[in-house]
Amino acid sequence: MAHLSRFLSPLTRFRGLFSRKPARANDARSAVPAIRKATGPTLEATGLLRSFGSGSEKTFALQNVSIELRSGELNLLMGPSGSGKSTLLAVISALLRPDAGHVRAMGQDIWRMNETELERFRLRHCSYIFQGYNLFPALTARQQLEVVLQWGEGAGRTEARKRADRVLGQLGLANKAHLRPASMSGGEKQRVAIARALVKNPSFVFADEPTSALDWDNGQQVIGLLNEISRERGATVLVVTHDHRLVPFADRVFEMSDGRLQLDAPAAPDTGVFYPDQTLIDICPPHEPRLRLREPVYVNTH
Ligand SMILES: Nc1ncnc2c1ncn2[C@@H]1O[C@H](COP(=O)(O)OP(=O)(O)OP(=O)(O)O)[C@@H](O)[C@H]1O
Ligand SMILES: [Mg+2]
Repeated sequence: MAHLSRFLSPLTRFRGLFSRKPARANDARSAVPAIRKATGPTLEATGLLRSFGSGSEKTFALQNVSIELRSGELNLLMGPSGSGKSTLLAVISALLRPDAGHVRAMGQDIWRMNETELERFRLRHCSYIFQGYNLFPALTARQQLEVVLQWGEGAGRTEARKRADRVLGQLGLANKAHLRPASMSGGEKQRVAIARALVKNPSFVFADEPTSALDWDNGQQVIGLLNEISRERGATVLVVTHDHRLVPFADRVFEMSDGRLQLDAPAAPDTGVFYPDQTLIDICPPHEPRLRLREPVYVNTH
């Protein structure tokens, strides 16, 4: 889905500052068990249809998909290649217009907005993280964040540097601030991409296979950070992945097949861990302690 990359400019006009507890990159297990009051969906999509091509070449990538996401939750979207995961993520994240259906986010029907309103919605409320990192090759880690603040928000140099350094520090990148992408490891690049996403304190974080180019340790760290963004900052996080080892980090797991949503499973209330099938249990035996990151999440329905 090459068209996604054109929306990845870090420019943003959002003026929110970090005000919450800092995330700690090196200890994903530090996340405090949350007791959350159940809230309504912050993102609600109904009856989504999306096709590509025409005539005999026509592909129906989304076939009547409905989905609800809530704030403070990390959602995984899984399924075979070509099942429509990236298309669904793009449609509900205001990047790709559906043929039919509605997406309501923060009380607004986003696909009824005009282009200016859509652009404002993306810039203010959404962050996008993709497999390819989409960092500027010529800029250092610090500058990747500073441009978001200086160009997007009009922040002064001193303020931009202070905020950039704070976020880099929160993600364990303080000693990498001076490096350009060519000198960083894949995991470091992805953490800089996450830092850039975080600096605007988004309501929604959309990530398409953010860990697929990383080894397991770096992948675990990245998903741990996304987990913390949802828990500690109250963001709604949707992650497309093929990696079943990430399931223990999630609140809910959605499964797609042939353009349809098959499964929406909340994390099991007794363990906080959902195993969708035997395969996962084979890959991640329940006694494997480092994977059991989530404590039970109690949802108060009253
Ligand atoms: N720009 C496009 N032009 C034509 N067909 C497309 C386009 N984007 C997606 N498709 C088709 O839509 C279907 C769903 O694609 P999508 O990229 O959403 O799948 P996916 O589940 O993300 O797959 P993968 O796991 O391989 O990334 C596929 O059949 C794909 O070929
Ligand atoms: Mg995809």
